[in-house]
Amino acid sequence: MYEDTKIVENDLFMKEFKIYKQIKSFDDLKKLNQCVFLDNLDPNLFNAIELNLNSLNEEDLKTSGLRPFNEIKCYELKSNPGLLVIPNPFENGYQRFLIKKCLYEYHDPPNKTNLDLHMKRDGNLWTNALKCQNFGEFNKLRWTTIGYHYDWTNKVYNELDYTDPPVDVAELSRVIAALIGYKNYKPEAGIINYYHLNSTLSAHQDHSEKNMNAPLISISLGSSAVFLIGTTTKTEKPVSLLLRSGDVVIMSEKARLAYHAVPKILADPEIDNFFQQNNEMCQSRKWYVSDQEWNNFYNYIKINRINLNIRQVNNND
Ligand code: SIN
Repeated sequence: MYEDTKIVENDLFMKEFKIYKQIKSFDDLKKLNQCVFLDNLDPNLFNAIELNLNSLNEEDLKTSGLRPFNEIKCYELKSNPGLLVIPNPFENGYQRFLIKKCLYEYHDPPNKTNLDLHMKRDGNLWTNALKCQNFGEFNKLRWTTIGYHYDWTNKVYNELDYTDPPVDVAELSRVIAALIGYKNYKPEAGIINYYHLNSTLSAHQDHSEKNMNAPLISISLGSSAVFLIGTTTKTEKPVSLLLRSGDVVIMSEKARLAYHAVPKILADPEIDNFFQQNNEMCQSRKWYVSDQEWNNFYNYIKINRINLNIRQVNNND
């Protein structure tokens, strides 16, 4: 799924990848004047269409940490039909909760990680790191799989290697899918990617799922990423988007099989804005993370990025 080592003549995707890999800051990115900032998407100014979302029960949105319906916007890029973006639809406190889950819990066995390929884990990775004040081991964590665990060698999902995806992730992805009209979405597999500031993800297509009609839902948390998305050939120049904490990208329909990549992770100068919460208002929510508890997660996430992406693997019956 990840590495695409095919040599392509006139590889415009790679050309853009190399340009964005050199970027050092948001200012550099602005100077290039090509990258789409999602908070600037405006159907009147930009080449995006605002989509009508299916209205959902406000209580379901609230339980999944989403803002009220009228505050959630969804755009389709005209340049990439089927590529939908929902600029940060989350309550800020809910982002804290998702980050906590990804750092503290979702990598626990029976979920699989890249670390399992060469070591036996002894206890919870995050707790161990905090206890010894040494994040050396934790920082080697690059991915965790949930649901049907992806077999990276044979590039398939193994029907027999399955653990239920975390309830909160499953529910959240069902709600996001329902908003864009996929009522029977089944969140069957997912990958959590952990990026450092110098990490990249090379161009690839996600074509291991049997079901190519259900969308791939991808949530960004923490530091920002330049995300390149093209078409089904690398000979076409991709579009670049700046994904910031909370942004949701959905690859559907014609964009489901598009090449995509992450050439750059950037520390976000405004990162604090995404996590501020009104403690009194949030305390009653099951996803509340107090300021004190948040502190350690914050120290990690301000210089790292997490991407949580979810897919339906099988066809509906
Ligand atoms: C992926 O394509 O697997 C991850 C994309 C991202 O990190 O935004």
